[in-house]
Parts: sequence; C-alpha cells; structure tokens
Amino acid sequence: MKKYALITGGTKGIGKAVALCLGKAGYNLLLTYATDSVLAEETQKELSGLCGVKVSVVQADITQRVAIGVIADYLTTHDLLLDAVVMNAGLTCRDPFEQMTMESWEKVFFGNVHFPVFLLQRIIQQIKKEGSVVFTGSLMGIQPHSVSLAYGVTKGAVHSLVKNLVKFLEPYDVRVNGVAPGFVDTEWQKTKPAEIRRNIENKTSLGRFCEPEELAEVYKMLIENKYFNGEIVVVDGGYLYK
Ligand SMILES: NC(=O)c1ccc[n+]([C@@H]2O[C@H](COP(=O)([O-])OP(=O)(O)OC[C@H]3O[C@@H](n4cnc5c(N)ncnc54)[C@H](OP(=O)(O)O)[C@@H]3O)[C@@H](O)[C@H]2O)c1
Repeated sequence: MKKYALITGGTKGIGKAVALCLGKAGYNLLLTYATDSVLAEETQKELSGLCGVKVSVVQADITQRVAIGVIADYLTTHDLLLDAVVMNAGLTCRDPFEQMTMESWEKVFFGNVHFPVFLLQRIIQQIKKEGSVVFTGSLMGIQPHSVSLAYGVTKGAVHSLVKNLVKFLEPYDVRVNGVAPGFVDTEWQKTKPAEIRRNIENKTSLGRFCEPEELAEVYKMLIENKYFNGEIVVVDGGYLYK
C-alpha cells in the first residue's frame, strides 16, 4: 500500500520541493495552500506527472481557524491515514517594532504556532503508528536576527513545540522533528531587494542561498529515519551571526 503525506504550504517553495522528494519516493500527497488555486492546480498536475502518485490539493489558510476542520474533514471523508505530516506553511509580519499591532502579532502566532498545534490535535488519529511529523522552523528562531519580531519568536516557539510534543505523541507511536532552514531560494527570498540578498550571501559561509531541493532531502531523512525524535536540524550553509 502506498504511503501518504500531508504537507501544509505544499504547492510552492520548500513545501513543493518536499512534496516532489516524497512523491519520487512513492508517497501519495495531500498539499494545502492559502489563495493561489491556479498555481496549486499546476503543481498538482506537475507532481502527479513527474512522480506517478496521487496528488490532491486543498485550500486551507493557516490564519483561519476553520481551515483546521477543512483539512481534518478531507482526511476523514477520503478515509486517509497518514505516514507523514509536514507542518510547513508559515507567515511573517515585517511591520517595524513601533508600528506592530496586537492583531498582526496574534495573526503570526496563530498561523505559525496555534494552527499546527490544533491541526495536529484534530488529525492525530489519522496518523499511522510509526508515522512522523516534521515542522518547518527557522534559523531566525535560533539566531535573534529576524527583521520581524513576531517571526523570530514564533519560530523559536515552533522549535520548543517540537521538543515538547515528543512526550505527547509517544502514546501514538508518532515521532516529531523540525528543520530550521537558513535562507532558502524560494519566492519568499527572491522578492527581497538585491542588496539584502547580497548581505545574506555574504553572511553565509557557503556564499549562497540553499536550494529548496537540497533542503527537501533533510525532511525525507527525518520522516524515514526511525531514530530521529525531538530534533531540530539546522540547515544554514554555515550562517555567520554578524
Ligand atoms: N525561504 C526561506 O528562506 C525560509 C527560511 C526559513 C524558514 N522558512 C519557512 O518555510 C516555510 C515555507 O516558506 P517558503 O519560503 O517555501 O514560502 P513560499 O515559497 O512563499 O511558499 C509558500 C507556500 O505556503 C503557502 N502559504 C502561504 N501562506 C499561507 C497561509 N496563510 N496559509 C496556508 N498556506 C500558506 C503558499 O500558498 P499560496 O501560494 O496559496 O500563497 C505556498 O504553498 C515557512 O514556514 C517559512 O517560515 C523559509
């Protein structure tokens, strides 16, 4: 029987690269996205063509409470049991500290922390024994260097969540880990001004951004290696904090 993986924010960037990597390894895929349904359909066709697996896409915005039910209902309606869950979708708010509002702070917290916690609570019975959950954290949760205070703090919370969840997922025989990427060349980074991109390259020992495909292999390793549990794997090309 084919394995099944759910990837939030799986239609582009890091999530899509993870989807491709898992699809090539024979996993059927359920990918969520926020708004871009045209791109989501393109990704669906592209990945099913490349990998020969079943690929489904579901619109589920992590800033909306209702989206938890949408994903959970999809799983039960289609009778799906998951081998892997990748909590990858995330958001930021780059308002300066002085202009930050409680609403924008709460929105980032809801999407990056509350949403995956309560999604996991809803779907835990749909994850198979020996299944695996991987969160996308961030180097910015470790190095206090983010432009966005809410982003850095929530990604730090994601790392702590991973470690705290080990105990709570143990009765289900489900492992949980996280990846803390440095700077990955997705749309998220490509839209930054050239000067900022150069600064980032200069602060990275390897002198370049990470390709989503090379990062994706780390997710697959965490999903398939049965002894990783409660770990945050940093993939930053040797970032120098200066
Ligand atoms: N890129 C980096 O350098 C980097 C570094 C460290 C951590 N990360 C983390 O990696 C994750 C993915 O980032 P990325 O660079 O791959 O981003 P991306 O290229 O912009 O891809 C975003 C994906 O997530 C979906 N998405 C965006 N906002 C969403 C929302 N509110 N609800 C549900 N889905 C949403 C998008 O759907 P639509 O197309 O519909 O918007 C798309 O599928 C995030 O958690 C981010 O914090 C990124």
